[in-house]
This record gives sequence, C-alpha cells and structure tokens, in this order.
Amino acid sequence: DGPGSFGGDVLAWYRGNARSLPWRDTRDPYAIWVSEVMLQQTRVETVIPYYHRFLEQFPTIADLAAAPEEAVLKVWEGLGYYRRVKLFQQGARQVVAEYGGQLPAEPEQLAALPGIGSYMVGALASIAFNRPVPAVDGNVIRLVSRLLAFPEDSTTGRSRRIFTDWIQARFPAGAARDFTQGLMELGALICLPKAPRCDGCPVRRHCRAMAAGDPERFPVKKTA
Ligand code: ADE
Repeated sequence: DGPGSFGGDVLAWYRGNARSLPWRDTRDPYAIWVSEVMLQQTRVETVIPYYHRFLEQFPTIADLAAAPEEAVLKVWEGLGYYRRVKLFQQGARQVVAEYGGQLPAEPEQLAALPGIGSYMVGALASIAFNRPVPAVDGNVIRLVSRLLAFPEDSTTGRSRRIFTDWIQARFPAGAARDFTQGLMELGALICLPKAPRCDGCPVRRHCRAMAAGDPERFPVKKTA
C-alpha cells in the first residue's frame, strides 16, 4: 500500500487534497448515514445546510425514529426524493428495535435495513466503520471504467461486479474510510465526465484510458 501502489497513491492524494466537508469531521455512524442518504441524489453544496439542520433537529437515531414523519419530511423539504427519507426513518426505527439505536457494522445487517442498497452498504461499512467494502456509485464507475479502459456497457450487473471486485482487491490495510472517500473525491474533482483533469491526476500511471489518449470515451453506455 506504499507510494506507487494504486491504494497508496489514492490515499496520499486524498489526505492532501480532500475538500473539508462536515461529514468528514465526524466518526458518528448516524451522521455519516444522514450524509450518504442526502448525497445519493443531491450535490454536495446543496446538501451541506440540510445536513446541519437535520442533525440539529434529529441528533440521534433514536430522535429520528421517534419523530413524526411530517416533521422529518419538513426538514427534508427542497431536497426531493421524499421516498428516501421515509425509508431512512423506517431504517432508523428498525435500528432502534433491533440494535438498541446503534447502527450495526456488519454489511449483511446493514443490507437488511430499509433503504440501504449495495452502494449504501459499501459507503456505511467503509466510511463509518472502516471496513473494506466497495461503494460503487456513478463517480466511481466513471473512474474505474477509465482506469481499466473498460470496453463493455458499464451499467450492467456484470460490469458492476467487475468494478466492485477490482476495488475490493485494492483496499489499503486499515484505511478503508479514506480509500472509499478518495475514490469518490477523484471522481468529483479530477476524473470529470467532460474534460477530466488528467494532468493533476494522482493515479494517471494506472490509467489505461489516459494512455490510450481518450478518457472521455469511457464509461461505455449500452449500444443496443
Ligand atoms: N458523495 C457520496 N458520498 C460522498 C462523500 N462521503 N463525500 C463526498 N461526496 C459524496
């Protein structure tokens, strides 16, 4: 995992270049859960004020579980995707009922909660609990499909499995939290959909799309 390895390069860059974001200053799994639910469909700048208001009003999983649904929807107003907040509150209620209000760390237990799909399992297990579980979202698909110059449709289950396994094999020991967020941060700041900033990319040595001279060709979308 030293300098020159993919994981070491991601970590060194993330630790020197990450944006300071409110959910990066906490180790509270619930606060990280709040941030990830909001970030699933909403941009970082929009999320920040909502994140603070939500935690002010519902500081713990027990507070969220006990609140009337209308109160939760009210704080969410403007974020959209109201189904996710309803499922989130159901998840909080289940965590109170089954785990005494403490979010479990086991991926299988996380996956059994309402509203928690495979991206969210990876995000929570790795960012909140520092477990080496990949979190594959659109940014990460773009990044890895370019690193591999992946020639197939990137949206299939088969492709997702390949990206997940590729990341899984590269977690630096003990650093899952920063590695996962480093991949997200590379997707957000460097490996942009249009005009990626390859000159400033810490993993350009590992990138086949850049070597081929056409990173924007990836990810490949279905052609049929
Ligand atoms: N998008 C999804 N999760 C994120 C995180 N933890 N930081 C920044 N952007 C994100």
